[in-house]
Amino acid sequence: MTELEMVRVTEKELHDLIQNKLEKAGLATAHADVVADTLAFADARGIHSHGAVRVDYYAERIAKGGSNLTPDFKFNQTGPSTGVFEADNGVGHFAANEALKEAIRLAKETGIGVVGVHQMGHSGALAYFVKQAAEQDMIALSVCQSDPMVVPFGGSEPYFGTNPIAFAAPRKNHTPIVFDMATTVQAWGKILDARSRNVEIPNTWAVDGAGNPTTNPHEVKALLPIAGPKGYGLMMMVDILSGSLLGLPFGKHVSSMYTDITAGRNLGQLHMIINPSYFTDLETFKENIDQMVSELHAGKPAADFEQVLYPGELSEMTAEKYQKEGIPIVKEIYDYLISDTIHFDKYDKANAFGEKE
Ligand code: NAI
Repeated sequence: MTELEMVRVTEKELHDLIQNKLEKAGLATAHADVVADTLAFADARGIHSHGAVRVDYYAERIAKGGSNLTPDFKFNQTGPSTGVFEADNGVGHFAANEALKEAIRLAKETGIGVVGVHQMGHSGALAYFVKQAAEQDMIALSVCQSDPMVVPFGGSEPYFGTNPIAFAAPRKNHTPIVFDMATTVQAWGKILDARSRNVEIPNTWAVDGAGNPTTNPHEVKALLPIAGPKGYGLMMMVDILSGSLLGLPFGKHVSSMYTDITAGRNLGQLHMIINPSYFTDLETFKENIDQMVSELHAGKPAADFEQVLYPGELSEMTAEKYQKEGIPIVKEIYDYLISDTIHFDKYDKANAFGEKE
């Protein structure tokens, strides 16, 4: 197995390289800035599956018209605490970020803000959104639709997507708690990695074309939900909240990332923002979260563990480490970012997993 050559960058350097590339592909500066911020944030926390690795694909999509470059954004407030943000198939990261501002505003004014993002592109790592809300003393839950590539529990054909759930809550003396996960055991990227290295995968990750668990990464046709029927239930919940609730295509009708890169994706996302001060004393709430974390840290670790971490803490620890050491980016990706290249036929009409057949 050959080690990948890496380049170390700061979050700001990475942001600027990504923004520059997206602008070169045709994206407006304000939009490119937020997409770059989201992707650099992901890499800076070790979520490399949703960082710079995606720029090549986004740039092709932008260049080929699959993201609306001049979206007609509209926020329709539908009740005291609710609204729908019409994203008009603009880039998802920017649209979701604009919608988040409305949801936070509603939660500050009314105690709760629930805002759906209607017809958006892919929005990346959801931690980016919930963390911002928690930094403003809000509790945040965000869910979104994703490409159908997961078999139902007991099924052999894909139906739901990897439908992620992100949660954040403020703390008194520390950065907020942020927990953010796909509802599949593993991301597709991990299968690709095993393929490239020709190594077996655990039989809990994915299934072959007949729906049977497989250890052969080359036979994988679909992914498995976390914890069997429970993860399956969670991905259904996410799809209902961010798809059906917004009148969008649902389940297997959700668009695939690569099927047609020249058309908008019509995806949905839902931000649910809760203002703790409408339920309890805010400062006590934040102190209690700090106490919870301290108690978890003080718990006796299991064999082979150094310390009990709170859910999501690993990403925070990675962020601190990379801040000191620099963020490792695969050299091939770095070379692409500093080049003038924009691909036009690398991803279009690929299969659900981004492979040309
Ligand atoms: P993951 O499995 O790497 O981590 C999931 C969560 O568990 C993170 O909050 C992480 O900090 C935490 N964690 C992991 N190990 C831990 C430990 N030892 N102790 C404490 N906490 C620990 O993440 P996953 O499921 O691969 O998702 C990656 C990203 O993909 C997420 O940001 C998600 O939002 C994004 N995503 C986006 C989609 C989209 O369509 N926009 C679709 C699917 C995922």
